[in-house]
Amino acid sequence: MATPPHSTIPASKSGQAHSTDTNDDKVRIFDTTLRDGEQAPGFSMPVEAKLVVARALRELNVDIIEAGFAAASEGDFNAVNAIAREIQGPTICSLSRLNENDINASARAIEPAARRRIHTFIGTSPIHRTAKLKMSKEEILTAVDQRVRHACSLCEDVEFSAEDAIRTERDYLLDVVIAAIEAGAQTINIPDTVGYSTPEEMKDLFEFLTTNAPKDSGAVFSVHCHDDLGMAVANSLAAVRGGARQIECAINGIGERAGNCSLEEAVMAIHTRGDHFKLSTNIDTTKLYPASIALSRVTHSQIPRNKAIVGKNAFAHEAGIHQHGILADRRTYEIMDAETVGMPSNSIVLGKHSGKHALAARAQALGFNVSREKIEDVFTAFKRLADTCREVTDADVVALMTGRAADDGRTGPWRTRQIDLRTDMDEDIRPSARVTMKHDNGERQSVQCEGGGPIDAAFAAVCAISGVDARIIELDLHHAANSEDTLVHAQAIVEVDGKRFNGRAREVDVADAAVAAFVAAINQAAKSAEALAAHDRGAV
Ligand code: KIV
Ligand code: ZN
Repeated sequence: MATPPHSTIPASKSGQAHSTDTNDDKVRIFDTTLRDGEQAPGFSMPVEAKLVVARALRELNVDIIEAGFAAASEGDFNAVNAIAREIQGPTICSLSRLNENDINASARAIEPAARRRIHTFIGTSPIHRTAKLKMSKEEILTAVDQRVRHACSLCEDVEFSAEDAIRTERDYLLDVVIAAIEAGAQTINIPDTVGYSTPEEMKDLFEFLTTNAPKDSGAVFSVHCHDDLGMAVANSLAAVRGGARQIECAINGIGERAGNCSLEEAVMAIHTRGDHFKLSTNIDTTKLYPASIALSRVTHSQIPRNKAIVGKNAFAHEAGIHQHGILADRRTYEIMDAETVGMPSNSIVLGKHSGKHALAARAQALGFNVSREKIEDVFTAFKRLADTCREVTDADVVALMTGRAADDGRTGPWRTRQIDLRTDMDEDIRPSARVTMKHDNGERQSVQCEGGGPIDAAFAAVCAISGVDARIIELDLHHAANSEDTLVHAQAIVEVDGKRFNGRAREVDVADAAVAAFVAAINQAAKSAEALAAHDRGAV
């Protein structure tokens, strides 16, 4: 077997060698959010957005960041290069096809990084060989040998991937793997490019490869799964059981077609089921939720409510039986703490499935002295209200406990009189809004604010005028057309001093509807504060 050639650029300027021990109990996390994830429709990111995600990945302490595909475009080269310049800690990697141009571009792009890796790949399955590459098995083996050696001459840390490995003949796949290892690759990635495999097959394949590949090379086996049949996480974990010690994955599971293995799910499975896997990762799990939110924000893509680990519902409970259990001991219905993944707290959502325990707990948290009789008294009204809305908010609970009718905020001290939204073609001029509002006491005020967008600016102006420091949590807009008119229905949920308030509105214009719903929620907050103060004075 040939010894790996010496590189001209050491993998680590700091002198810390990349571990290549296949038998250790550490699973390396190779994040491909910025490469496989970013190349999927709807997730493309400019350099600044990629840097935001790369910073979140550094906080997570991923082992390797695949920052892009340097040869794909000037923009991709610049993004990989910017990440290589700024991000310290993780190894910075760039993808390349198995040709010298791509490999050279990767080497140049990652050059400023303290730790760097060149990742190079070629299709090996019959369909890739005949339909796409028009190369014979032997030609591919020769190319693997030559180009991996070339990559190793530029960078000490080289990863080789056999694209569509899962549909490649086993013995031929082993030949390719041996060729890559002998040419100097220290990481051998086995992708399920089309998301076709099953957990049993994966474990079996990795056992076959790790048993038959040269033992003394120290190469790390890696798994890269796609989610076409919804098995990417299960398949990645099965590969780990079969001997893989690197998982390629992406935040929120983004990636080609149905996506890649979700980073947060794979990491939390290994973390939570340590008894089963007897392995660990270097990930700071408390940074999982912030990373998921950062990606969602820069790509303007919503995380599904029911997404494992980071979805809104992952630690939320509405059903009465579940809420009773959670309030008694959260372990009745939760296998992880919300705090472990960096979520602010586990939440009890009040809705039509909630019971008296949850209502009493919320009322108590809002400062009410709660007696069993009082809860019995208001429970029917609570259920009636819950039947008509998606979530019973803190304002609703205050209204119920103080005997006031809950409303949607259309009554209250503040009315919007005029909204003027401004956006400029010049990117240096921030969007702004001028809002005029009138108070019940006759006072009229006009304020202009800037914001991330014009509606955001209008919300800031509403807060400035009303003196209520509200944070928007959710804004739902529905366009409803009927024969007479077209209306936008808006619902805003805001947080004020840790309490949630709901506002609804119907307007012809989408911006008017959003701002009116926000003002309605502010009205709820104002009325609620008044009612609580009256309650404290013993007036109710
Ligand atoms: O899915 C795949 O095969 C890939 C390789 C380039 C690693 O993304
Ligand atoms: Zn892929």
